[in-house]
Amino acid sequence: MTLQTKKSVQALHWTGTSLKVLDQRQLPETLVYDDYNDAAGVTEAIATMRVRGAPAIGIAAAYGVALSVIQHCADAPANWQQKVADDIALLAKSRPTAVNLFWALAQMKVLLEQPLTNPQAAFIACAEKIHADDIVANMTMGELGADLLTGVKGVMTHCNTGALATGGYGTALGVIRSATQRQPLNVYAGETRPWLQGARLTVWELAQDEIPVTLLADSAAAWLMKSGAIDWVIVGADRIAANGDTANKIGTYSLAVLAKQHGVKFMVVAPTTTLDWTIENGDQIDIEQRDQNELLPACYNKEGSLVSAWNPVFDVTPAELISAIVTERGVVLNPTEQGMRGLKDVI
Ligand code: MRU
Repeated sequence: MTLQTKKSVQALHWTGTSLKVLDQRQLPETLVYDDYNDAAGVTEAIATMRVRGAPAIGIAAAYGVALSVIQHCADAPANWQQKVADDIALLAKSRPTAVNLFWALAQMKVLLEQPLTNPQAAFIACAEKIHADDIVANMTMGELGADLLTGVKGVMTHCNTGALATGGYGTALGVIRSATQRQPLNVYAGETRPWLQGARLTVWELAQDEIPVTLLADSAAAWLMKSGAIDWVIVGADRIAANGDTANKIGTYSLAVLAKQHGVKFMVVAPTTTLDWTIENGDQIDIEQRDQNELLPACYNKEGSLVSAWNPVFDVTPAELISAIVTERGVVLNPTEQGMRGLKDVI
């Protein structure tokens, strides 16, 4: 199935009985949605990065559990709960770093323990709420982040943190969207090697919304900062530890180091579903290593090759390099463990 949308692209579309997932591996050339009817399919869609981005992964997993409930209430009415628990365990293995996945699955596990008269409706409603809440959080963060950009002329972003990576609107890209509605802003996007989320997804998504953007090679970031063109780097997050250390797309840490060197501020934008209160600092974050062949030229992909590749797809930026963490519950400036704790107390 091929859909054409000019604006507000959606990574995920719940039909009521199935999940349509935009295959982001094919963007920007082709806009194709695949239809999923079970948790195994959704697990595969996450693992192969048809859907990617921390909040979108969590939302997809929630719908995956809803699909599991629909399937197993029909084919195994006597022990559907066990089958769904097995599917939750399967979905949890799809990718390790984004905590939104585990947060969403935890919500579903709580529901699995409740006595429910209509489990299918309850699980669908829960997944839809996770999806809708994420959009609301993004809109709120957009405004809070844009407040920090008053008078700013240029920003750089990394990876893709927009509607494609979330329930809609975006985290870091949501802040950029909101800011461009208030003031002129020069937006720079790094390519984000090796998967090219910046080059393939971010510039496409901004162009869909008619927001001008300039693409640069990741290796040009230092020179861009040296030129004085940007005042802020704005990124999303896959997992934020209790002290504010932030795991995000590989290359984020380099940008934070460069930003410090050049007096550029560094903003992390993430919903509270990306906060992992169970870990004290970033050393405890499981950093995903993906297949070396995502990086390695094909000619080296053979038995006995002397060339291999190291392919960590996230890194951790220490809190001391971060100027502001923007969440839907508020902004933490110069994050510390104590400053972050304030977010816990906000209802
Ligand atoms: O490997 P990906 O594309 O899933 O990584 C995505 C990122 O690192 C994003 O910056 C992060 O998930 C925040 S998305 C709102």
